[in-house]
Amino acid sequence: MPATSAPSTQQSADHPYVLAVTGASAQPLAERALQLLLQRGRSVHLVLSRGAHEVWKAERGESVPLDPEQQQQFWRDRLDCQSGALQCHRFNDQAANIASGSYRTRGMVIVPCSMGTVGRIAAGVATDLVERCADVHLKEGRPLVIAPREMPWNLIHLRNLTNLAEAGARIAPPIPAWYTQPRTLDDMVDFLVVRLFDGLDEDLAPIQRWTGDQR
Ligand SMILES: Cc1cc2nc3c(=O)[nH]c(=O)nc-3n(C[C@H](O)[C@H](O)[C@H](O)COP(=O)(O)O)c2cc1C
Repeated sequence: MPATSAPSTQQSADHPYVLAVTGASAQPLAERALQLLLQRGRSVHLVLSRGAHEVWKAERGESVPLDPEQQQQFWRDRLDCQSGALQCHRFNDQAANIASGSYRTRGMVIVPCSMGTVGRIAAGVATDLVERCADVHLKEGRPLVIAPREMPWNLIHLRNLTNLAEAGARIAPPIPAWYTQPRTLDDMVDFLVVRLFDGLDEDLAPIQRWTGDQR
């Protein structure tokens, strides 16, 4: 039985989050997560994988700039939000601050997470900044929340996800729920994003939480 390293819960609330986006479907979840974090005044390091740039274009019909400064402006304009702190990184910038274990963070969320990224992190292979940063969070015992998106999962996907869970990652697939009685897709997106950040003890948004009284 492999050893499980429990993520540290002693991360300072002053440290930034790392929000990573990879080339799986469900890019609106990442966009909403970024918006909610910035609206709450949080500090966010954002990194989109090469695949994320492709899928974003397919799902949202426009391109996200590769240049970090242009990308920061792109998000500020798109989200109509000037609060919080945002630092964008190129997908291949392995010399970025967040690529080092000595740079403190509050935790990392990968949403959505492709099976390619899941496999490479599980194998300890860091070909881009998302994978390197995930590797750093695991080795430092910091919270790493992974929202894998594929359907169906094959045995390789399931084994890779098991390896990541055993290494200390929190596996949080974006699976919708209906007990909150969502009326719009936005309601569903908010539910999924808020549940992801519950894993980092961050209460992101006003959603109807289950109290049991709804029966
Ligand atoms: C429109 C579109 C949707 C995709 N959706 C998924 C998906 O949901 N899950 C997945 O694992 N791969 C998906 N892929 C394939 C990945 O984008 C591809 O394997 C890519 O190399 C992943 O790169 P990354 O892990 O570096 O982001 C999709 C590709 C496209 C073009």
